Amino acid sequence: IMKKNNINHYEIVDSTNNEAIRHINSNSKTNWILADRQISGKGRGDNKWESPFGGLYCSHILRDDNINHNHISQISIISSLIVLKTIIFFLNDSEVKAKWPNDILCNNKKISGILINTLYKNDKMNIIIGIGINVLSQSLTKSNAQYSFMDTYNDKINVLDVFHKLIEEFNNIITKWDYGKNFNGLRDNWMKYAYKLGQEITVKHNDEFIEGLFSNIDETGNLILKLNNKILRFNTGEVF
Ligand code: BTN
Repeated sequence: IMKKNNINHYEIVDSTNNEAIRHINSNSKTNWILADRQISGKGRGDNKWESPFGGLYCSHILRDDNINHNHISQISIISSLIVLKTIIFFLNDSEVKAKWPNDILCNNKKISGILINTLYKNDKMNIIIGIGINVLSQSLTKSNAQYSFMDTYNDKINVLDVFHKLIEEFNNIITKWDYGKNFNGLRDNWMKYAYKLGQEITVKHNDEFIEGLFSNIDETGNLILKLNNKILRFNTGEVF
C-alpha cells in the first residue's frame, strides 16, 4: 500500500481533520496535513483537543478502493500501533502503553490521542486519521497532572522529527497490514503494550458502564470483555 507522501504544512488551522475534509472536497492530492497549532482541535466524542505550539497535530487522508467500512476498527488499532512505535523510538523504554481503542499513555498519563473520521465523496470512502501528540511541554496550557510530554523523557526532541518518524512508521505498518491479511501479527504487537489487558476494567459504551475482564482484542479490532456468564465485544467505547 506504499503511497507518495503529499504534505501540506500550515502554521495554523481550525482542525487538521477539518482541513482534510476541505482537501477531499476539492479533490486535492494532499494526503498529510500538518499544523503548528489548531484553534479548534477536536477530541473524540464532544471533547476538545487543546492545541498550542509545541504539539504535533496532523491528519492523514487514507483513500483506497480496497479499503471499506469494515476495516475501520482494524485501522484504529494499527493507527495506535503506528503512534506507539513512533513514541517508543524517541522514548526508548519509558513506560508507554496503548489504551484501547487508540490513546497512548506514558507513565499513566495521556501523551497522544487519535480521532478517526470518514467522509464519502463520489461514492468513495476517505478515512481521516487525526493524530495529536504532546511533544514539547514549554508553551503548553495543558496540565502536567493529566498529560505526559515527550520532552520530559528526551530533551533533544522536536516536532518535525516526530512527524517524519510517524510517516515512516505509517508507511511501514500500513504496508505490512496489507488490507487485513496481517492484522493478527500487528494486533499481537499492539497487545504487548495494551493498558489493563488481563485486568478488571470498566467500559463506557453509549453512556452505560460495564465491568468485566479485558481478555483480548478480536480479529476485527474489537475489545473482548468477559463477564461472569457472557462475553461482550465492543467496537467503540472508553476504558477505565
Ligand atoms: C482524543 O484523544 O480524544 C483524540 C484527540 C485527537 C487530536 C488530533 S490533533 C490532530 C487532529 N485534528 C483534530 O482536530 N484532532 C486530531
